[in-house]
Order: sequence, then structure tokens, then C-alpha cells
Amino acid sequence: MAKKAPTFACTACGDTFTRWAGKCQSCGTLNAITEISANEAQVAAKGREQIRAAATLATEAANAPAAAEQHPRHTTGMNEIDRVLGGGLVPGGVTLLGGEPGIGKSTLLAQICGAIGRSHAVLYVTAEESVAQVRARLERLSALSPHLHLASTNDAATIAGAIASDQYRLVVVDSIQMLTQDGVDGEPGGVAQCRSCAATLVEATKRSGRDRSQPASLMIVGHVTKDGTLAGPRLLEHLVDTVLSFEGDRYQDLRVVRAVKNRYGSTNDIALLRMGGEGLIEVADPTGLFIADRDPGVAGSCVVPTLDGNRCLLVEVQALVNQSDYPQPVRKVAGADQNRVAMILAVLSRRLRMPLGSCDVFVNVTGGARIQEPAADLAIALAVASAWRDLPVPADLVALGEVGLGGELRPATRYDLRASEARRLGFQRLIGPGAGGGRGRIVVARLNDAIEAALG
Ligand code: TYD
Ligand code: MG
Repeated sequence: MAKKAPTFACTACGDTFTRWAGKCQSCGTLNAITEISANEAQVAAKGREQIRAAATLATEAANAPAAAEQHPRHTTGMNEIDRVLGGGLVPGGVTLLGGEPGIGKSTLLAQICGAIGRSHAVLYVTAEESVAQVRARLERLSALSPHLHLASTNDAATIAGAIASDQYRLVVVDSIQMLTQDGVDGEPGGVAQCRSCAATLVEATKRSGRDRSQPASLMIVGHVTKDGTLAGPRLLEHLVDTVLSFEGDRYQDLRVVRAVKNRYGSTNDIALLRMGGEGLIEVADPTGLFIADRDPGVAGSCVVPTLDGNRCLLVEVQALVNQSDYPQPVRKVAGADQNRVAMILAVLSRRLRMPLGSCDVFVNVTGGARIQEPAADLAIALAVASAWRDLPVPADLVALGEVGLGGELRPATRYDLRASEARRLGFQRLIGPGAGGGRGRIVVARLNDAIEAALG
């Protein structure tokens, strides 16, 4: 008779037994033995054998140069994009470019191919458009170059072959949702196809450059839809080195590219670009972008130096307060967190005795910008107070700080960067809590002091 398979295992050390016991015979842990199925037992036993075999693991010194960093990065021709990537495209690195359809992913790829194609062999693989369409776009963007090759296929294995051939320094694939692979079930764009096609391309990239001096960089486009029906970049994030998210419908022609994941750099930088007739152009000095049309003499307006990643953007908060005609006063917020605004209004009502309960309140962040950080609380509060009192906030003043439920203020991070950027754009004074004086600093600890200082 065959030997009975062990059906109990210790959850602490993983050893398997044929009988249950209160104490593990191998590691001595109490109450760690549980029953497992025969199949699990086989897997566990096999796993132990494999652990022994893995003693042959090859290691490298930690201070040896990483393979991917031995070669200089490729500059994409746009400083903003290079910065987000952490200094350009890494040879041997895989970048996923995600965004909604029509946002400009193919345009960005075409421009990058044009820039790198000036000096290196580049392959642009399109699975969505014809080669003629891609060529027409490249021509319009003045991105045609002798080293840039175009191909149209949706077979992942063929593309992987081209990557592994070591002929190209950069391969771009537009888009992952249109690729298929033999032997994999499911529709193109489905979970199984997307995952296996991406894995094949990544594998080919990691193998490239073994014999030759330099591996290929790979850029993959992935569409994201608002309702999430397509298998989007989230699914592929763990497979790739860098994930760039391309956003922008909320800013009209403005586009934001941010690194959601980056094995070769920080995820703190954003790139600001504008979509124009000649493709994507970098916004040279975005700090003042959202306050360009500001009228400083109007009550109910306050500017805050917000941070998006490492970049300081000045945004204007506008408020309108009006005696309500409705039993339930109207509260409308655009560009800021509705709950945060509700809390600030409650603090103004309760702690500063502003009778906002019977008023309609509208809060708007101009230019389509969005405020994400609590450091903008004080600016929202000042805008509302200014609207309520019908007194404008001084034109050269920016506000920064978080409002607490007790009406106290809490300091924000990176005061110096924000203050210097604000001063550069003509805002001489910064009001907010926190230590440190400095030129133009108005230090206040409580919301009522801030309102008195700002509105007199
Ligand atoms: P596209 O790059 O095709 O978007 P995606 O690949 O993300 O689906 O570009 C989409 C839009 O950009 C399209 O509506 C046309 C516009 N566009 C410009 O405004 N200027 C240009 O130079 C180009 C190439 C496109
Ligand atoms: Mg496209």
C-alpha cells in the first residue's frame, strides 16, 4: 500500500505531518498545526525541495552598476517629459502610457519617436491606425526621420521578435488593447490578452541587448476609459517599470503627464503641456497659468500657492455668498473637495459667528485647476469671508494653511518654495501659521486672526 500522504502542516515552519499535534515537532511552535489537503501537502513538500535547490541563486554586489543604468538615457525632446521620467527613457526600461482615448497619447509617442529617431533606430508599431495615418501625423509634427521605421501589426509575438532583434533603441506600441497572442483565450483588450501580450513584450525588452551593447526601450500605450470597461493600465502596472498617466480633459487644451509608478525616478514631478496645432508644446512657466485672468479688486477671491508634486502652481479660489431664497441653501463647489468646503463653512459659522446657514455659498477654483491639499483651507476660508464682508483680499497676498475644527491653523509643507514662487509672480505677502518670519510673512495661529489681518 502506498505511504499515506501527510495531511497536517505547521503554519510557522511549513513542515508536514501525518497526525495533528498541539506542538510542532520541527520548530516547537504551539497551536500552529492545521489540516491541509493532500494536494496542498504535495505542493508544500515540493516547495521545500525547491527551496533547497534555490541555494544556487546567483548574486551580485549591491554597489555594482544596475544593468539598466549602464547606458545613457534617451532624451525625449521635451524637458518636461524627461523630468517626469527621472531624466529620460532608460534603455531596457518599459514605460506604459495610459490615458483616455483622444487625449493625445499617439501624438506624444510620435513626437518622442521623432526626437529619438534623429540619432537612434526607432520602431513605431501601430495596431490601431494604418501606417499611412501614422506617417501623416509624423509629417504634420515634423517628426519624420531616416532612423524611424513604421510597422502595422497586432501580433504580440512578432513585435517581441522585433524588440529582441536588437535593431532598435526604442520600440513604441500603440496600443496594448489591440494586440493578440496565439494560444491565449479571449478578445483583444480583455484581461488575458492584455496581460500576456504585455508580459511577452516586457520579456523581449529585458532580454534585448544581451549580446550587443545597448538594450531597447519599450513604450506601450494603454487606453483607460472612465467606466473602466477596457482592461486598463492598472492591470499592467506591476509588469512595467514606469507608468505615465496622461490627463487633461478638465483643462481644455492643457495636458498633465504624471508618473504613477517609476522604478527609475520619483513620482513627484508632473509635466504640463499644451495641445496645439503643432502637437504638444511644453508650458514654459506654469506657475502663474491659472491666475492669468484674475481681477484682484473683487471681493471673494484669494490666491493659494499649491503644490502638485514638486511644482508650485498658484491658483485662485473664488467664493460668492448670497442670502438664500430657499429653505435649503445652495452649496456648490467646483475644483475643491466638497466635504472640505463644508467643514470650513461650519468652522466659519460656529467659531466666527458668520451666519452662513441662511446663505447660498458657491466656491470655484478658476481655470479648471483642482485643489487637492488641505493647505488650501485658509484661502477658501478667506475667499468666503471676503465675499461675506464684501471686502477684497489685498492684491499682493497669498494664503496658506490647514484649518482645524477649533478654528486653529496648521502649517503646510515647503513654505520657502511656495513663498518664493508667489513672490516671483508679484505676491509680496504670505499669510499663514507656522514658525519662521521672513520677508512678507504674516504669521497667524487662528482663523479669526487671519481674517482680521487680511480683511481688517
Ligand atoms: P491622439 O494622439 O490621436 O490621441 P490618443 O492617441 O490618446 O487617442 O490625439 C487626439 C487629439 O489631438 C485629436 O482630437 C486631434 C488632436 N491633435 C491636435 O490638436 N494637434 C495635433 O497636432 C495632433 C497630432 C492632434
Ligand atoms: Mg491613439
